[in-house]
Amino acid sequence: MKKFLALLPLCGLLLWQACSNENGTASKPLNPNGDSELALLMRQMFEDSERVRQQIEKGEAVSIQVDFEKIMTAKATDPAKMQGPDYPHFAASYVEAMKALRDAPQAEAQERYTAMVATCMNCHEQSCPGPMVRIKKLVL
Ligand code: HEC
Repeated sequence: MKKFLALLPLCGLLLWQACSNENGTASKPLNPNGDSELALLMRQMFEDSERVRQQIEKGEAVSIQVDFEKIMTAKATDPAKMQGPDYPHFAASYVEAMKALRDAPQAEAQERYTAMVATCMNCHEQSCPGPMVRIKKLVL
């Protein structure tokens, strides 16, 4: 039991490292061990969502550029985050929401965009709270 308690702060630290990047920029690695495939994808997802939000604000047609289905397979800094039943479930909801947004008629784009951002938040609430501050900025 004592050993287990001693390990707890270490686990917390590992989680914190992978998920604490609130202000990541695409240009330099934020993680001393290099950025994971999933972390890089997440930044592209963020930037693409920001672009789509602007398109909706301007009343332009939505175009999606990020390869969002990669969320199912990209490797995370801490692979434990992708184990268990929750990750695939949340990832699938995000993929579905992106397809719905991509295929949405113009009049429904805003509603589908909002639903998509909610799927980011749902997964992050569970597995990776650090970036939630940033993700909130995507809300229209
Ligand atoms: C299925 C779960 C899941 C979904 C859905 C999800 N994320 Fe993430 N996100 C993660 C995990 C896990 C990490 C940690 C990745 C790592 O460190 O390898 C992460 C990391 C991030 C990061 C930090 C990346 C960095 O610079 O290190 C940002 C920003 C982010 N996500 C934004 C988003 C946005 C925006 C969306 C929706 C468009 C989203 N996430 C949807 C699980 C998810």
